[in-house]
This record gives sequence, C-alpha cells and structure tokens, in this order.
Amino acid sequence: MDTAEVGVSGAVAVEPDFGFQNVVGDSAILRDAIKMAERVAATRRTTVLLIGETGTGKELFARGIHYAGASANEPFVAINCAAIPENLLESELFGHERGAFTGAQARKQGLLELAAFGTLFLDEVHHLPRQLQPKLLRALESRRVRRLGGLNEFPIECRIIAAASPLLEQVVGTGEFREDLYYRLNVFSITLPPLRDRLEDVEQIARHFLDEETRDYQPAKRFSDDAVAALLVHRWPGNVRELKNVVERAAILSADSVMVRAEHLLIQRRTTRVVEPDDSIGDIRIPRNGKLLEDVEREAVALTLKITGGNQAAAARLLGISRPTLAKKMATRACADAGSAR
Ligand SMILES: Nc1ncnc2c1ncn2[C@@H]1O[C@H](COP(=O)(O)OP(=O)(O)O)[C@@H](O)[C@H]1O
Ligand SMILES: [Mg+2]
Repeated sequence: MDTAEVGVSGAVAVEPDFGFQNVVGDSAILRDAIKMAERVAATRRTTVLLIGETGTGKELFARGIHYAGASANEPFVAINCAAIPENLLESELFGHERGAFTGAQARKQGLLELAAFGTLFLDEVHHLPRQLQPKLLRALESRRVRRLGGLNEFPIECRIIAAASPLLEQVVGTGEFREDLYYRLNVFSITLPPLRDRLEDVEQIARHFLDEETRDYQPAKRFSDDAVAALLVHRWPGNVRELKNVVERAAILSADSVMVRAEHLLIQRRTTRVVEPDDSIGDIRIPRNGKLLEDVEREAVALTLKITGGNQAAAARLLGISRPTLAKKMATRACADAGSAR
C-alpha cells in the first residue's frame, strides 16, 4: 500500500509501521498506554498529547496511532519544534505565498496543509517558540490555516499528535508555554512511563533488539545472567533509545560468542547527577509515638510546592487534589517550610 511520509528537517525517517505491534513490553503501565492509544486511534482526529522522557517511545506511539487508525493511508508528517529556527518553523507549519518575505521565491504549502487527512506530529512541542504559540492556537481553534502572505484560508483536516517532555507542565507554570495552547493540545493525553518504572520490560525489549541485530545468527545469541542483572540495575535516563544503543554495541562486541555478557554492555555511568522529573525530595518520617495526619499532609504539601517552585496549580496536580483544595490546606496551616516546628 502506498503510504506518503514526509520527513522534515531532522525528523527521523521513516519506515511505515502498522499499528502497535512494534511496541514491545508487557508491563501493565505500558499495556495501559497502548490501550489508551488504540482507543484514540479509533477516533477520526482527536488531538493527542504524548508525554514522556526522551526515548520512551513517543514517536513510536504517534506512528502507532496513525497507522492503526482510519487515516493510515493518508500522510504522516513529522516536525521537531526544537530542531528548526523560529522563522523557518513558522513557514514550515503554515506555508507561505511567493514573495511573502525575502527569499520566499516560490509558494510553499505548510505542513498543516500537507498533512491533509493524515497526521501532523509536533515533536518536542514544549520547545515551540513563544511567538508561534498564539498562531498555532488560533489555527487549531478555528481549524483553519492561512499561508504567510496569503489571503485564502484552508481547512485543517489532519489529526494533531503533539509530543512533549514531562517538563511541559513546568514550562506552562512559568509562562513559557501558553496555558490556553496547553489545554488545546491536552485533549487526550497519554503518558509513556520511563523504563526505570517498568523494569519488567527491560529484558524483553533487550532481547527484541538483540534478535533484530543478529537475526540470522546460528545459534541465536543470548544474554548471560550477569548481563540481565546489569540491565536491571541501570536507571536508563535515555530510556528505550539508550537500551537499543547498548544492545547494538553489545551485539558487535560479543561477535565471537553466543553469550552477551555484562562486560559487553557498555552502560554509561554518569558522574553528574541527572535531574529526573520523578526524583523525590525529602522524606516524611513517622515517629514511634505517632504523628498527626494533618502534619504529614502539611509536610507533603510543602515538599510538593518545593518541587514545583511554588507553582500551586502544578502542586495540586502532583498531589491529585484540586487547586481550591490545595489553597484550603495551605490556608489552614502555614506550609512555609517542611521542617518547621509546630
Ligand atoms: N516499547 C518499545 N518497544 C520497542 N521499541 C521501542 C519501544 N519504545 C521505544 N522503542 C524504540 O526506541 C527508540 C526511541 O523511541 P522514540 O519513539 O523515538 O522515543 P521518543 O520519541 O519518546 O524520544 C526508537 O527506536 C523506538 O522504535
Ligand atoms: Mg523523539
């Protein structure tokens, strides 16, 4: 079947896959994410927001949603909002008429137009420049787009799938990312868990990549027990992408043996501490003679506010309560400092 794929400046190319069968892993959190993705794939063009650290499979899922849906034969168009300078990004997205600006020698269709009845994948959307955010919002709200320097408007027919780092909520909090655009994109969000939160997937995914690398080897290569153990103690800051690279290297380094052993796994040890969004701070201690639940709550609120840099909306989200509830809790008890004496 003929599938149009348009790669744009730095978008990863581009073998069409079909649905979610390329997603490896049986952990409940991954399976839940796939279930959500399949559900939204069945809609014609509901906007999807994929949240996950680098290498967690956001692009894989975006393609999965596209190719599992009714628009599989329509274009899948990807653009990386972090990789393209602002002025180029604008004309990539919206297109331009001839003479719209110096150097615009020919008319150019924007990706919102080119994606037609397919999918536009906005990768790393948290890096979308501030200036472009209201323009994108307007286009998405009106479902119409006008080329730079043009008069006519075209309807936007494609599905938008945006991908962002878990830091997106923080840049919404600081005002770097417009809240209204965030809500416009956050119609149906799917969180892709980091690999360290689903270690039960690691071995299976590693085997999958090893088999891929060494497809026609006889006998088939295997991981030794110490290799599996080494895979399980690492924290995988680069997630599945990092795992893939480690396995690819190991396949080469172990060329002489059937076994891939720990020594073949060149896992990067970081000297600098990586700040991960799920890093916890503080520890709430319960003394043997007990502690008031409201004091535990007060500490939890204070620590969470510390994590969000004082942003109450974000803190409420992290605590799973509404913002008014958080405000009430902050008002009844002073939460200035987790360690403060009663
Ligand atoms: N669950 C998975 N099963 C198999 N391959 C995966 C899985 N998750 C990610 N990958 C692979 O890992 C690499 C990084 O995934 P990608 O979708 O590009 O991540 P992200 O866009 O979140 O940075 C790709 O080669 C992708 O195919
Ligand atoms: Mg990516």
